[in-house]
Amino acid sequence: MKRLYRKYSCRRTRGRRRKRNIKARSCKDESKPAGKAESLSCRSCFGHNTEALADSLLITGASQLLTLRGDGPRRGNSLSNLSLIKDGALLVRDGLISAVGTRAEVEKLAEARGAEKIDLGGRVALPGFVDSHTHLVHASSRAEEYELKIAGASYEEIARKGGGIVNSVKKLRAATGEALKQRALAALKRFAAHGTTTLEAKSGYGLDVASELKILRLHKELAAEQPLEIVSTFLGAHMVPAEFRGKAGGAERYIQMIEQKMLPHIGEGRLAEFCDVFCDRGAFTVEQSKRVLQAGRQWGLEPRVHAEQLSRTGAARLAILLRAASCDHLEKVNKSDIVALGKSETVATLLPGCDFHLGLKEYAPARALIEAGAIVSLATDYNPGTSPTLSMPMILSLACTQLRMTPAEAIVATTINAAHALRREKSIGSLKVGKQADLAVFEVADYREIPYYFGVNHCWMAVKRGRVIHATKQATI
Ligand code: NIG
Ligand code: FE
Repeated sequence: MKRLYRKYSCRRTRGRRRKRNIKARSCKDESKPAGKAESLSCRSCFGHNTEALADSLLITGASQLLTLRGDGPRRGNSLSNLSLIKDGALLVRDGLISAVGTRAEVEKLAEARGAEKIDLGGRVALPGFVDSHTHLVHASSRAEEYELKIAGASYEEIARKGGGIVNSVKKLRAATGEALKQRALAALKRFAAHGTTTLEAKSGYGLDVASELKILRLHKELAAEQPLEIVSTFLGAHMVPAEFRGKAGGAERYIQMIEQKMLPHIGEGRLAEFCDVFCDRGAFTVEQSKRVLQAGRQWGLEPRVHAEQLSRTGAARLAILLRAASCDHLEKVNKSDIVALGKSETVATLLPGCDFHLGLKEYAPARALIEAGAIVSLATDYNPGTSPTLSMPMILSLACTQLRMTPAEAIVATTINAAHALRREKSIGSLKVGKQADLAVFEVADYREIPYYFGVNHCWMAVKRGRVIHATKQATI
């Protein structure tokens, strides 16, 4: 078995076990990362199994098991296909799914008999959410800009006055690595508590060599020390930093720094899988973005793009041209962009949390994109400036009410299509034999209730690679 977590005993029941002379294995919990022992529990604490499993785990009692089985990314009508199994069950071996079907089908397998068991008690289970766009590492909120936004100042006006991304850059450069780490760890626990089991994390609040590398090294550390899967993206081209801005040839010199000083370290140290660019008015032009993304690719970083958020620049076309994994935002796409995305393999990732937080009325044209055949995905864009949420259930609610997506479409967009956006569709995003056993379990009777109860987190349990990484105390529906 791949050893990802340190073995330890559950503190709450260790004494009790000793008294009863129960073998240590009965309360051994490897679901926790090394050094993070407090928040999780064992079977004796919460009535369900959070143990490390020697061999197999049988999960039964899903009133609706949304498997999302099927091949390829979902487009058009197939975005509504959840491959739902009533009274569903899963068998897990060494963190991977070894069988999936109805309870009757799975329970009769020989391997199921000796397996450890979790009963979901009639709750709804689906693949763990894949959040394909976050700015995980930042030093603090930008609550000081919130009232300006409410009073009507635009995102760009605030940025021109020294707020926005450069505000977060100042804060990050002044923060210690330890403070950044603790903040990110706290956020990761909350992501798990909302059903997210994999997330992408971008740099982009450092914008000098040392600070960008500090963020990317932190991604690596976080990935090793806690159970959520982290996909690292280099976003050095988030903004031209203050020390280069407004100076003759400033943007050009900063891009040279990305190409010559940042990317070689990142490529050699394997610190990121993707290279992203904020290709928009006030940030980087299409030409500059192309240069950075091509340079990134030479170091093995695949492109993804912040595109058409504030203005229509042609960034989505650039993403398609470069066969980027994803282009994200897309509020300002025009009709021909929509047609082009419909024919492309580049995922169209929509981030309705931004428009909601900024109080904007114009959301991305999700219905038109779906009708055109685009691979539509959804993400939180967790960041302190435009979308300070890490709740995928909230994003589902916004997708339904603001983007007019159905609950089924929104779930597909946050699981299997999001896995495609991260090029991880072979290992996550659906409940299929051979894939990781990543699950989000909700305290609801029908999957549609996940977005329906907006602003309330009904996530009851999250499982990553067959390990419980979040469990609530509610015992009944
Ligand atoms: O995705 N648009 C660029 N990047 C972020 C916002 C970053 C910030 O304002 O701090 C976004 O919306
Ligand atoms: Fe973003």
